[in-house]
Amino acid sequence: MKPEILLVEPMLDVIEARLDEAYLVHRRYAANEQEAIEKAKPAIRAVVTGGGTGLSNDQIDYLPALGIIAINGVGTDKVDLVNARCRDIDVTTTPGVLTDDVADTGIALMLSVLRHVARGDRFVREGRWAKGETFPLGTSPKGKRMGILGLGQIGRALGRRAEVFGMTIGYWNRSPQSDTGWIAHSTPKELAANSDVLAVCVAANAATEGIVDADVLEALGWEGVIINVARGSVVDENALLQALKDGTIAGAGLDVFVGEPTIREEFLTSPNTVLMPHQGSATRETRIAMGELVLANLHAFFNGEKPPTTVN
Ligand code: DGY
Repeated sequence: MKPEILLVEPMLDVIEARLDEAYLVHRRYAANEQEAIEKAKPAIRAVVTGGGTGLSNDQIDYLPALGIIAINGVGTDKVDLVNARCRDIDVTTTPGVLTDDVADTGIALMLSVLRHVARGDRFVREGRWAKGETFPLGTSPKGKRMGILGLGQIGRALGRRAEVFGMTIGYWNRSPQSDTGWIAHSTPKELAANSDVLAVCVAANAATEGIVDADVLEALGWEGVIINVARGSVVDENALLQALKDGTIAGAGLDVFVGEPTIREEFLTSPNTVLMPHQGSATRETRIAMGELVLANLHAFFNGEKPPTTVN
């Protein structure tokens, strides 16, 4: 008999087909599967979920045979890792394979804000170019300073890309990362004060919640731009909306939000703000690679081996 697993978010068809081959897959996102899940819950030994979705402790309680939570992503902020370990549940992620795409998203957001790409698209479609209206000049990244908040794999990949654009790189990280040769700063505020583009790449957890606050934004200054490819919770959204509204900072490029996919309505009218629907790792190539890692972790678990990318 095939082992039973619960899939919380859709994956690529090719990956779901492979899951179906190996497992009896219950799908929580399909309404007609609810009854089946209710019946199957004592048999479900694995859950596959997204980094932004995770699995709550209540949901874990609901699944008595659960042995592995395979996150299709790198964020672990939506799973209580300690509780999972205490219950002998492995939690796995998909590290490495999404680094480049998330870093590319950071660059795309930065250029879109500095060079008004999204705004230019609207300007042309609305016929304003044809009417002879003036489009604002952009800002060149060359010679500017990128400050990276959180120098993990994604932060490093973003810094390497920014260097190609002629930017100098500074960073703040919990532990020093001297091998990069980039300028270390001792607080997020000091980093912001020495940055033109503040790139938020730090993992979300209790220590980083709201770490980008009103003080940090004020230090970034009226010509400064913030990019967030990490998690919405790292930034104090009240402070950010206020800073955008009153011109304390020049703009923002955001892929992540508190409470997504429902976001604060003020973002929709926020000046010089580019919004993305949490697409950092969303390319076909990377979603296949992430799916392969999810499959490798599940196969190892069901073979009685340690899943290769366990994080707890
Ligand atoms: C991640 O890897 O955690 C992405 O943000 C997807 O949720």
